[in-house]
Amino acid sequence: MTNIFEAGLFRGKRAFVAGGSSGINLEIASRLAGLGTEVAIFSRSQEKIDAAVAGLREAGGNATGFTGDVRQYEAVDAAISDFAQAGGGIDFVISGAAGNFVAPAAQMSANAFRTVVEIDLMGTYHVLRASFAHLRRPGASLINISAVQSQQAIPFQAHVCSAKAGIDMLTKALAVEWGPAGVRVNAILPGPIADTEGMRRLSSTPELAEKIARAIPLQRYGTKAEVANLAVFLCSDAASYVSGAILACDGGQLAGNPSGIVG
Ligand code: NAP
Ligand code: COA
Repeated sequence: MTNIFEAGLFRGKRAFVAGGSSGINLEIASRLAGLGTEVAIFSRSQEKIDAAVAGLREAGGNATGFTGDVRQYEAVDAAISDFAQAGGGIDFVISGAAGNFVAPAAQMSANAFRTVVEIDLMGTYHVLRASFAHLRRPGASLINISAVQSQQAIPFQAHVCSAKAGIDMLTKALAVEWGPAGVRVNAILPGPIADTEGMRRLSSTPELAEKIARAIPLQRYGTKAEVANLAVFLCSDAASYVSGAILACDGGQLAGNPSGIVG
């Protein structure tokens, strides 16, 4: 894929990526680092953090890692404060830590539902709340990684649909509150993205994966790189008047199903 972004675009910038040790969020961290951003990633597993930081550094990036759970405000706050103080602030925040599993609403436990709401929605609030005091502003760009489930109800995803819908509204609420301080807040809603833990959990067989792809207007899964392109755009000055936006990167999924089946 052609890289339309100028090398060194983000030289001198600093990004905190929550949930940045794998998948879509790691791809975003990697793209930001490749464009000159100093990146900090945060997640629960020390092993995953170490592997991801090593990979980012091997590719020439300036990266550090922090271990913690987004459900614990103190852990999030400590990591963000440490990273901010080490370099004089933060320019970009990506909040993408999430949990997902397939479970019928009438059969999952209350704790199962609560777990996803606490990781996705409370976690996102924690990350953005802890960041605010350290943002270089005007100019900071905050991106929440939501999902198409926030706008389109999907069976066995009641927990995820609810948590992600909360993230979309939190995105708008913070864009409204923090816009006057020169802080932009946006959300990206990925559709099905290939080679990710999310889709390994949602499409358990090749037949199901094929069925999901056929329901997408562009007839395929997206790539992690395609989501990272949108994140880079949102961090860049090209998006300087974009805030409070809920932006799908979904091959047209939210526009409708191309199968033509009516009723
Ligand atoms: P992934 O590889 O499993 O990424 C999840 C990340 O969050 C990992 O780094 C994980 O690391 C971290 N994490 C999970 N729980 C955490 C917690 N409690 N505290 C701190 N970190 C935590 O999944 P992915 O499929 O790439 O998904 C990434 C994001 O894209 C998610 O927000 C997801 O909802 C969204 N999304 C994905 C798709 C898709 O097709 N994959 C579609 C729509 C939306 P640890 O295990 O080390 O904590
Ligand atoms: N179906 C139904 N309930 C499930 C479940 C499933 N597949 N997986 C977990 N749960 C329930 C558990 O039974 C538990 O409820 P209980 O206490 O009433 O038994 C509750 O959810 C919490 O599970 P636990 O394993 O203690 O949570 P955790 O905090 O260790 O892990 C998860 C969080 C469950 C979301 C785990 O899958 C995870 O860490 N996911 C991160 C990676 C991911 O999901 N990536 C895709 C992102 S789109």
